[in-house]
Amino acid sequence: MNKGKNILCIGAGYVGGPTMAVIAAKCPEYSVTVADIDENRIKAWNSEKLPIYEPGLSELVKKVRGKNLFFTTDIAKGIKDAGIIFVSVNTPTKTFGEGAGKAADLQYWEKTARAIVEHAEDSKIVIEKSTLPLRAAEAMHRILHSNTKGLDFDVISNPEFMAEGTAIDDMHNPDRVLIGGMESPSGKKAVKTIADIYAHWVPREKILLTNVWSSELSKLVANAMLAQRISSINSISALCEKTDADITEVAKAVGMDSRIGPKFLRTSVGFGGSCFKKDILNLVYLCEYYGLPEVAAYWEQVVKINDFQERRFVKNIVRNMFNTVAGKKIAVFGFAFKADTGDTRESPAIYITKMLLEERADLAIYDPEALDNAARDLKDVKGKFELVTDPYKCAKKSHAILILTEWDEFKKLDYGKIYESMEKPAFVFDGRNILNHRELFEIGFNVFPIGSTKMTHLK
Ligand code: UDX
Ligand code: ADP
Repeated sequence: MNKGKNILCIGAGYVGGPTMAVIAAKCPEYSVTVADIDENRIKAWNSEKLPIYEPGLSELVKKVRGKNLFFTTDIAKGIKDAGIIFVSVNTPTKTFGEGAGKAADLQYWEKTARAIVEHAEDSKIVIEKSTLPLRAAEAMHRILHSNTKGLDFDVISNPEFMAEGTAIDDMHNPDRVLIGGMESPSGKKAVKTIADIYAHWVPREKILLTNVWSSELSKLVANAMLAQRISSINSISALCEKTDADITEVAKAVGMDSRIGPKFLRTSVGFGGSCFKKDILNLVYLCEYYGLPEVAAYWEQVVKINDFQERRFVKNIVRNMFNTVAGKKIAVFGFAFKADTGDTRESPAIYITKMLLEERADLAIYDPEALDNAARDLKDVKGKFELVTDPYKCAKKSHAILILTEWDEFKKLDYGKIYESMEKPAFVFDGRNILNHRELFEIGFNVFPIGSTKMTHLK
């Protein structure tokens, strides 16, 4: 067996699954195995209905599964057989002890390192794919070298930059692939081995080779700066609502400055997803740890503005619906943290629905892909809510519609028909600014966009 052509990925989640599917498809001479402790997840990866929704993923998996892409719970065998091991287990924010609420919880990651030590029979290259705090590679290196079998491991940082909903496209055409390695000769060789995998489809000039620490930090900084743009535009959206400025016009004017650029300036109810908040808090924790409270406070503000934007959205709803939503049916369109994914991790919808349930609103929630996750997120939440699989039923007899995810299909609904079925006065709070506000107003809705003047028939 040529172990150098055997890749194992530990962790079959949003990162591990799509990444390995693309590697398997692009590198037919490699055998790629994805292993996870979660039996149900592995069963789903081996079935018709994959455990995650991602455009293009299902077709890709079907093409290579059983040929050179395999899903298994047999982690021990996977480790024994592979020469290259990607680690993409979850690293959520710690909820307990030192660093709670900010630092990364590394228990799953450390268990993986220990499993590699336990089952490895020869030296391997281990690649960190999960988002990890700075110097995690060093810690991984230490754990791996605590083995008493005389084995040597090279640890590489290869952070993931793909975004959900476009993961397959992002993997196929990445802006860059970042590979950070140790300076030793074997470290350099390991970096080359990993670069050669990506070079099957990524131009060499886009494969960036750095030291380990730069690679780890770049991932945190990229996410922090992307989130910072959203918080910047969201903070200005609040100012626009107080004046006659329109945030879409402002974002366009600002984004046309080629030094700023137009992307990631879409105002919203707030950013969600498994990475942004976690990575910023990680950065904040690191800065505090290294005695840089000013730098920590600077980045923490990005998260605070996001919380402010979510709270502001709810306050706006309550205030404009005559200061009470108690007992009123409100239709929530969209629960996923962004369009084209069923993922709801850190979705603003979770916080917004919880706040509205505290205000005793009756919620009906519709999302084309995320209702299973919504059910899980709201499992222990008190209050009256139902999950509805049809947007028209969802809106029927409601007082207001909230747009919380920018799904395309929300733009195509028959709002005339929806208006007829609603209680009056009928409200739309467009938390993503995706609908045609003028048209809705003409139908009869009272329309509340984010970051521009409301359009209301109320005196
Ligand atoms: C992010 C990074 O983009 C990706 O590089 C990294 O690997 C993982 O984290 P992801 O969280 O999947 O990806 O989605 P992204 O497209 O970045 O959106 C994150 C959140 O920001 C979503 O809630 C989205 O709706 C919101 N957003 C994005 C805005 O509110 N406005 C924008 O202009 C862009
Ligand atoms: P991400 O978005 O980072 O991919 P996910 O939560 O989607 O995060 O996926 C992480 C996966 O890692 C989960 O399927 C989880 O079961 C798996 N996992 C966690 N700990 C271990 C472990 N010790 N061994 C194998 N898999 C693990």
